[in-house]
Amino acid sequence: MSPSGLHINKPAVIIIIGLISTVIFWYSYTSKSTTEQVETVSESGNMAVTEAMMKIMKDEPVPKEQTKDAGEGISLVYREVKPEGSKLDVLFLHGQAFEAKTWVSEPVFTLQLLNKVGYRAVALDLPGDKWKSKKPEKMENDVFLAKAITSLGLTKPVIVSPSMSGGFSLPFLFKDPSKVQEKSRGFVPVAPVNTEKYLDQYKSAHIPTMIIYGETDATLGKESLKNLKNLPNVTVIEELKGAGHACYMNSSLEFNKKLVDFLQSLK
Ligand SMILES: *[C@@H]1O[C@H](CO)[C@@H](O)[C@H](O)[C@H]1NC(C)=O
Ligand SMILES: *[C@@H]1O[C@H](CO)[C@@H](O)[C@H](O)[C@H]1NC(C)=O
Repeated sequence: MSPSGLHINKPAVIIIIGLISTVIFWYSYTSKSTTEQVETVSESGNMAVTEAMMKIMKDEPVPKEQTKDAGEGISLVYREVKPEGSKLDVLFLHGQAFEAKTWVSEPVFTLQLLNKVGYRAVALDLPGDKWKSKKPEKMENDVFLAKAITSLGLTKPVIVSPSMSGGFSLPFLFKDPSKVQEKSRGFVPVAPVNTEKYLDQYKSAHIPTMIIYGETDATLGKESLKNLKNLPNVTVIEELKGAGHACYMNSSLEFNKKLVDFLQSLK
């Protein structure tokens, strides 16, 4: 018995204090880390995309498939994120082997990411045998794209256009290069087809452009780069090391990083 009448079991007290501090430390560490990882804001106020952030994207709600009748025989199938306060719209097209769903799926999750960063984004299925949007057979691809953009209420969307979707984005943007700034705030060609068709138009098309392609994409990657370099406002050219034609699938973290940096660079 101690003089005060209390018996203090020192080892037990030490163990209890140890346990309590471990729990407090663990709780504050885990609850803080999620927000800290997601909000990696640089000095310029821009958000940097990190690997930790991409891991969290797996648990974000997947934007559901939506359908819209745009009139004139057009029906649109798409996925969309619409964060509050967005100041920029982004439209994602897709390549031959892909679809709108690609942009909300493993490993890219680009729509979920843009939702977090604060940009409205739509991934649109293109019309064709394999995809879900529809257009009258005789309607030109650029007419379809213009009507889709209006119907979805997108304002001068930045257009991300891989591979086969060049058949839509390039005529839409470059048939009349003097109007390109009224149509889009920026262009992200990802080794699109048909770049050789608009060589005469590029020099008068003032649109901020980031060319992005895979290092091992020896055909379309290199050829589209050579042609699109003639655009006067190519601000960034990115070659993703070790990535193939679908470079956003092979180097998704790098792709997302570059894309978000480019979007944040647009005024
Ligand atoms: C394109 O670049 C020129 C100079 O090279 C600049 O004057 C113009 O503002 C730029 N346009 C856009 C839309 O960025
Ligand atoms: C890139 O990803 C695609 C689609 O997942 C795959 O088929 C291809 O083999 C990959 N290429 C490289 C170079 O990793």
